[in-house]
Amino acid sequence: MLSRSLRRPCAFSACEILKVTPTTPKYNFHRTLPRPNVQPTKPTYSKGLAGVIAGESSICTVGTGQGLNYRGYNIMDLVEHATFEEVSYLLIHGHLPNKQELEQYKSKLASYRELSPSIKVILEQLPSTSHPMDVLRTVASVIGSTEPEDVENRTVSGVRNNQWESGDRLIATFGPSLLYWYHFHKSGTRINTVTLPNDTVAENFVKLLQQTKDGQEPDRDMIDAVDKSLVLYAEHDLAASTFATRVTTSTLSDLFSAITTAIGTLRGPLHGGANEAAYHLISRFKNADEAEQSLLKMLESKETIMGFGHRVYKNGDPRSNVVKNLAKNLSSKIGTAYAKNLFDVAERMEQVMMREKKMFTNLDFYAAVVYHLCDIPTDFFTPVFVIARTSGWVAHIIEQRQDNKLMRPTSIYTGPDPQEVRFMKLSER
Ligand SMILES: CC(C)(COP(=O)(O)OP(=O)(O)OC[C@H]1O[C@@H](n2cnc3c(N)ncnc32)[C@H](O)[C@@H]1OP(=O)(O)O)[C@@H](O)C(=O)NCCC(=O)NCCS
Repeated sequence: MLSRSLRRPCAFSACEILKVTPTTPKYNFHRTLPRPNVQPTKPTYSKGLAGVIAGESSICTVGTGQGLNYRGYNIMDLVEHATFEEVSYLLIHGHLPNKQELEQYKSKLASYRELSPSIKVILEQLPSTSHPMDVLRTVASVIGSTEPEDVENRTVSGVRNNQWESGDRLIATFGPSLLYWYHFHKSGTRINTVTLPNDTVAENFVKLLQQTKDGQEPDRDMIDAVDKSLVLYAEHDLAASTFATRVTTSTLSDLFSAITTAIGTLRGPLHGGANEAAYHLISRFKNADEAEQSLLKMLESKETIMGFGHRVYKNGDPRSNVVKNLAKNLSSKIGTAYAKNLFDVAERMEQVMMREKKMFTNLDFYAAVVYHLCDIPTDFFTPVFVIARTSGWVAHIIEQRQDNKLMRPTSIYTGPDPQEVRFMKLSER
């Protein structure tokens, strides 16, 4: 039994913080990494779970001193040499696909681009004013209702609607669904969401957005930028949305429920919604000097500057320079004063934040510039992140199921002392 004094509201200082050094995860698929030395200790507390190790994973290294790696492959190699499809396959299946596996994977994704009548009806009935993140969350729910995961056979390969099929279904369908909804409400057009069978997810997305017809080439630099951004966004260990996905999965719930959980969690501006919020901020400034003056005032009044900082990275986000270069190249290729100014404003903000706060841009900051220069509507920025991260979420769902334990932490009670609270009937209150 706890003593009476311990049942009273607990000050944070009275609570011990878990003393573990973040180290490498236990497994990768080839078991090359040592197991972290994590000893379960007394109950501990860390606000926002900062620094807490909440599981083991063989999927990704973030902030371990080894750089950002997916299944052991460095992000720089992946972004330079692999398409999003190769990366998605790597995350979900644990190895890079060979040519045949990649072709099969791409044709499977392509086969899911035709939207079912039930999805179309619902997309048409959603308001034109819906936030696109709500549209994607709804799409995940609709598919989860019309083509539910086969819970009896969820881990059996070859079974329709197993976890791999269900994951692929979502990765392939999110983009076409979003763009069907967009064009229907913008111009009343019911677009054909099927493009060429060999199109990548990025090609399909840009073609449907720009409404280029087969045979008519969309802008290759834009497709390349979107594809690389998908690779960068695909996975990031236990980011809030991935942790949320694993919590839902740990209750033995289905994949679609876990992904709707993730979409809801990603939407907030402290997580995925930061790319949309960062663009709203950047676009407020007419030029770099105005950006500098306004930013200084914002810092003085202790405002949070979207697109800067990170829970895990404290000395820089390895994805940031890649996406900054994409933004720079697109800006100079487009070549207009507007595009150049947008990049200059963003770069000045980066310089001011480094000079004043020693803070660095995270992936979301320059991704916002890239997406804007690709003519992607601002409220589609976080949905594009969803398309990419679904591959990481699915990988984590599969992994969670391989060694599941219900995730159920406890809290430090800070409410009224039950011994001092007496229940009064309604008539007495
Ligand atoms: C990502 C984020 C939530 C991480 O937060 P965290 O690990 O909890 O760090 P904290 O909020 O405790 O910040 C530590 C300090 O840095 C400051 N800080 C962190 N991010 C900041 C930002 N973007 N702008 C201004 N100050 C910031 C905090 O105000 C705090 O200052 P203090 O010690 O004087 O109070 C935070 O950096 C943030 O809000 N960034 C903006 C949103 C964003 O870009 N999210 C996408 C992340 S990939």
